[in-house]
Amino acid sequence: MTRLSAAQQQVRSDFLQQVGDGRLDKPAAEGSALPNLSYTCDDFFRLEQQTVFRDNWVFAGFAHRLERSGDMQPVEIAGQPVVLVRTADDSIRAFHNVCRHRGARLVTECRNSSKFVCPNHAWSYSLEGKLIARPHFHGGERHDVNSSECHRADLVEIRSATWHDWVFVNIGGEAEAFESCIAPISAKLEGYDLTALRFADALEFELAANWKLAIENFIEPYHVFSCHPWLNGFVGMDERVAPTFERRVLSCGYEFKATDPARGGELPWFPGLPPEKQNRGDWFVLFPNFAFEIFPDQVDVFVAWPQAADSCRETIALYFVGDGASAEKYSDARAHVIQNWNDLNHEDIGVVERMQSGRNSEGFDGGVLSPYWDPVLQQFARLLVESVGEEPVGGT
Ligand code: FES
Ligand SMILES: [Fe+2]
Repeated sequence: MTRLSAAQQQVRSDFLQQVGDGRLDKPAAEGSALPNLSYTCDDFFRLEQQTVFRDNWVFAGFAHRLERSGDMQPVEIAGQPVVLVRTADDSIRAFHNVCRHRGARLVTECRNSSKFVCPNHAWSYSLEGKLIARPHFHGGERHDVNSSECHRADLVEIRSATWHDWVFVNIGGEAEAFESCIAPISAKLEGYDLTALRFADALEFELAANWKLAIENFIEPYHVFSCHPWLNGFVGMDERVAPTFERRVLSCGYEFKATDPARGGELPWFPGLPPEKQNRGDWFVLFPNFAFEIFPDQVDVFVAWPQAADSCRETIALYFVGDGASAEKYSDARAHVIQNWNDLNHEDIGVVERMQSGRNSEGFDGGVLSPYWDPVLQQFARLLVESVGEEPVGGT
């Protein structure tokens, strides 16, 4: 049961009042985006954890990190300990990472085991979360191995969905079906055989900025001409179009005239790629914090992990097609693409951190927007308002 503290209720009411001035409903030219407190206030950060990150489908981990049955990975979602596990039947499931007895966190590092065993009093649970045994439960040497008595203490499962290499959880359990959530993306991925993708590498970054600034920056291409010299040369501003959106999915894309080694081009393409996808790049955000880009030869996942109101972590995971991900003959081509991602993201981090520090200024509180490029920022803000504004399960 979720309960909001008095401070969280107060910050929610302040926030809803501020965005209730019509800034998100007006056309971008007259409207604005999220107010400063949503980027700077610790109570708002905790409110967001209990609403946005609990009630939506949230990215939790990579399936390739859970390769074999018994592989376990502890993660933290919405400020709560969660464990992902590959079960005996080869599916991935998620549980609250907490022992039902005295609440010890069960798994603290990635490992492989045939069962969960709590280090505190050695209660054990199957990979499917069933309590198996409680040693000395009824007194010395009087163990409980009677499964009919045990069921009351099974691990608490979290709703999860695995889509390609990406595992999502919905802790609140009441988000719309995952498939319908990603339907606007699936429709645009027709023609790409994603089963050909292989994980190649991941980059990690620490940012002194709120997670929302990282995601907002990712989806808007307006800053390309001034922040990304190479990218602007690859596709100039006159060839770019404004991002679009459909419910929780924000998207953008372009056509490029010629390939560039920095963006692949020397790597194998998706098999049977239709001609209209052969010179395209598209990118997507699934609200709140999962994003990816797709090109003829790669998919690059971008996740902004909330850490605190003014800090986040980013993961960029790179996937290539077939042996493009690992064959020696492609190692230089891969290194070129990976280096380019690293360079581009450092160019972004500079402005993202500046936007964070700008949000401590009373000379800013939501911004004056471009009518062409920025309506997507209002949609992102509306999604946030919708999640934060809903009464959490259990009421307040
Ligand atoms: S807290 Fe886990 S067995 Fe006691
Ligand atoms: Fe950028």
